[in-house]
Amino acid sequence: MAIDVLVVGGGGREHALAWKLKQSPRVGKLYVAPGNAGTANLAENVPIGVMEFEKLAAFAREKKVGLTIPGPDDAFVGGIVDVFKSHGLRVWGPTREAAQIEGSKAFAKQLMHETKIPTAEFGVFTTPHTALAHVRARGVPIVIKASGLALGKGVYVCRTVAEAEQAIQEIMVDRAHKGAGDEIVIEEYLDGPEISIHALTDGSAHILFPPSQDHKPALDGDQGKNTGGMGTIAPVPWVTTEMMAGIDSQVVAPTFEALEKRGTLFQGLLFPGLKVTLEGPKVLEYNARFGDPETQVYMRLLKTDVLDLFEASVDGTLDTVGRSIEWNRGFAVNVVIASGGYPDAYKTGFPVSGIMEAEQDEHVVVFHAGTKKENGILVTSGGRVLGVSAIGGTLKQALDRAYAAVDKIHFEGMHFRRDIGARSLS
Ligand SMILES: Nc1ncnc2c1ncn2[C@@H]1O[C@H](COP(=O)(O)OP(=O)(O)O)[C@@H](O)[C@H]1O
Ligand SMILES: [Mg+2]
Repeated sequence: MAIDVLVVGGGGREHALAWKLKQSPRVGKLYVAPGNAGTANLAENVPIGVMEFEKLAAFAREKKVGLTIPGPDDAFVGGIVDVFKSHGLRVWGPTREAAQIEGSKAFAKQLMHETKIPTAEFGVFTTPHTALAHVRARGVPIVIKASGLALGKGVYVCRTVAEAEQAIQEIMVDRAHKGAGDEIVIEEYLDGPEISIHALTDGSAHILFPPSQDHKPALDGDQGKNTGGMGTIAPVPWVTTEMMAGIDSQVVAPTFEALEKRGTLFQGLLFPGLKVTLEGPKVLEYNARFGDPETQVYMRLLKTDVLDLFEASVDGTLDTVGRSIEWNRGFAVNVVIASGGYPDAYKTGFPVSGIMEAEQDEHVVVFHAGTKKENGILVTSGGRVLGVSAIGGTLKQALDRAYAAVDKIHFEGMHFRRDIGARSLS
């Protein structure tokens, strides 16, 4: 029997989830709240904000929505799942308590420390004075992080003591990230390429998605400021099956065990960000939801009906359903096109052209992130505007297709990285 589904969020991740859900023969009506111009093409956008949990729950009840799938971190950390459950509504993802593993980096580091999960050495500080003393004792490079959610802007990789002092000033004294910076984590700098791991769980069994890789800095060659993510590839060709097995046994499984020991049931998606160092993979942080733009490549690769996976995660049947998960062969990539100036201040409202031309290649799907329709015209409305995804038999083929499609798209000031996946080609 078909069920109606509500996706909560309005970014590229939610467009990709809606795009894949739309292909399920078991999905009836599909709603996205608040959605974007891309989701409007395949679902009904609902003008309710991501953090308006009671309004969203009332909508889900009124429309007899059979499953709600929230996307964004702040929704989970804010307790959207708890609110839906308190209304007796079926909802996917971690509770507020379980999402603390993302919502508090201090909590996450403590859990990793106690569980001996490989991660950077660290200290937790609540005053600028003790934080500064630690930086001076440790020296640079060093990494300073606001413990709470900070829109992906709370991490400072510091190469000089002056930079570190500035970071502590911004986070703790100027309160640039408000309460998220009341506690800070200062950690050892780790060198090496980054990978994203996605583990779907029902609270008992879990399955690993193929490894993916995001590119955080704004500019080619990993230059410029960190962003929400400028592009992804999956799978990552140099991540071996053995490496994935090691990550499962040394990171993913022990994390779930440690949460269980604390009496915390984690259902949903655990996404550890890792650095592959000379000493092996080490955890940078945990996210308690799908990555954006990782989701865009996963949805292009996934063969299995994604509703089956969400329902198995909610119903506790992942043990059997997970075993039959199927992925398309080959590679998927997603190149993010951002507004000029992003991740700093940027202007919006510029008309976007060329998406239809880009999608003329059947291997290409353009996911919207910061877009909206204004008087019938598609215009930019956010920092990350589009994700141009492509699949291919080889990574090179997928990248060539994606970049050929990117070149057909235009809006004033647009910028994107030319080197997504380039390091994995050799
Ligand atoms: N210990 C570290 N060593 C080197 N780089 C780091 C370290 N911690 C974080 N980074 C860099 O900063 C980025 C953001 O850090 P992360 O902990 O993932 O926070 P968030 O995603 O919440 O902003 C990472 O993707 C990585 O590039
Ligand atoms: Mg991160």
